[in-house]
Amino acid sequence: MFMKKYVLSLDQGTTSSRAIIFDQIGNIISVAQREFTQIYPYPGWVEHNAEEIWSTQASVALEAILKANLEGENIISIGITNQRETTVVWDKKTGEPIFNAIVWQDRRTSNYCDKIKCDGLTEMIRKKTGLIIDPYFSATKIKWILENIPGAKKRAHSGYLAFGTIDSWLIWNLTGKKIHVTDVTNASRTMLFNIHTLSWDQDLINLFDIPKTMLPEVKSSSEIFGYTTGHILSHKIPISGIAGDQQSALFGQMCTKIGMVKNTYGTGCFMLMNVGENPVISQNNLITTIAWKIKDKVQYALEGSVFIAGAVVQWLRDGLGLLLSSSEAEILASSVEDTEGMYIVPAFSGLGAPYWDQRARGTIVGITRGTSSAHFVRAALESIAFQNMDVLKAMEADSGISIKEIRVDGGATVNKLLMQFQSDILNVKVVKSKISELTAAGAAYLAGLAVNYWNSLEEIQDNWKMEQIFEPKRMSSRLERIQGWKKAIKTTRTWSS
Ligand code: G3P
Repeated sequence: MFMKKYVLSLDQGTTSSRAIIFDQIGNIISVAQREFTQIYPYPGWVEHNAEEIWSTQASVALEAILKANLEGENIISIGITNQRETTVVWDKKTGEPIFNAIVWQDRRTSNYCDKIKCDGLTEMIRKKTGLIIDPYFSATKIKWILENIPGAKKRAHSGYLAFGTIDSWLIWNLTGKKIHVTDVTNASRTMLFNIHTLSWDQDLINLFDIPKTMLPEVKSSSEIFGYTTGHILSHKIPISGIAGDQQSALFGQMCTKIGMVKNTYGTGCFMLMNVGENPVISQNNLITTIAWKIKDKVQYALEGSVFIAGAVVQWLRDGLGLLLSSSEAEILASSVEDTEGMYIVPAFSGLGAPYWDQRARGTIVGITRGTSSAHFVRAALESIAFQNMDVLKAMEADSGISIKEIRVDGGATVNKLLMQFQSDILNVKVVKSKISELTAAGAAYLAGLAVNYWNSLEEIQDNWKMEQIFEPKRMSSRLERIQGWKKAIKTTRTWSS
């Protein structure tokens, strides 16, 4: 009998594990989601329990299948997309993590990063990895674990320990603790991977004193990595797509041609531009990253990460109590014309691209007696758009491409005021696609391509449909507002220096 087949995408994010099932025309068949514990041992430190990541991910996978009235046999393949950089070190024999996962947001290695910057390593690291020296990336997190967990360094050098980003950790568990792999996109976020030779870099391995035996084998983003064998997904399903979540969203948005840009609005914002088959090393403090590798063909991207975006609205709601729910933000912000010259720079955990100022802290400027909660909320929303503007300008300067359009996704894209302001301040079209789950869709497409569920990019392209387009409107005060923002950034950085 004919059995209908689907692709299961596992989207392991910073705050929740999600599983989404797609059909051949990109429709979502079912979604399951579970939040997990955020651990903040000290200010600036962020950890996750790696076992909890695995158990929540495995349970939502099962739940999504059951919800859709399907069985393992209906799943033709699995794609994995994940929070990037987050670092897990585990014992190869027992399969148990030797420490909590250190999350990408964690700043505990700031001093060490400063030290290697002072040692003059910035250019060498940028040339090899495309990255900026920052605690954000995995290398200094692995080093910290090896130096701070008793006996870890010795065990690592004796070949007993394994490192993985979350994709590796999930595949290791899905395959019954047998397969230790990652893909090029995740490898490119470790600060140990040479993005030109597509291999682990011996100089960097020596610098951070991380034994090569710990590192996963690096594969493309779309091929069969292994099969599920465990008791959770007992049916033997191929795992055939992996990409870090932002690269996955770039693929899900079908930004497959040079110059195409996507921006995802989550806790932070991540803007990526496809720059084609040759890496563009940034002169403007962006990151060069691998977008994907499909059948020996590598595509690169320029990326700008804004650390605080949706999180500023959460702060208004949970920290200041100005909102009962995030959806109130648009209503309140729309009740005023503008911020009357007030700016919020939400540098709660430093500033990301293009400033990379790890010590910067949030600043509010321009408050008057007339400032109301509505101005506050509006300034918070506008700060998201201004931060993206800084990234977009750097991207244009690096690529030499004048950006006319960005494709957007993520939670905050429901906020029409923000999307219109984004379009106005950038003077570009902001295009929202019909499918909201583009991160998960990207991994599903990568997985489906490897098992011929989809046969070509063109076929997938047809699944991408536009929902709404925000055209830039003329704003007479645009330049003045941009200047105000620049002054606010300057104040933020002067204050924290
Ligand atoms: O680089 C960090 C990024 O991958 C996290 O994404 O969506 O889990 O916040 P998200």
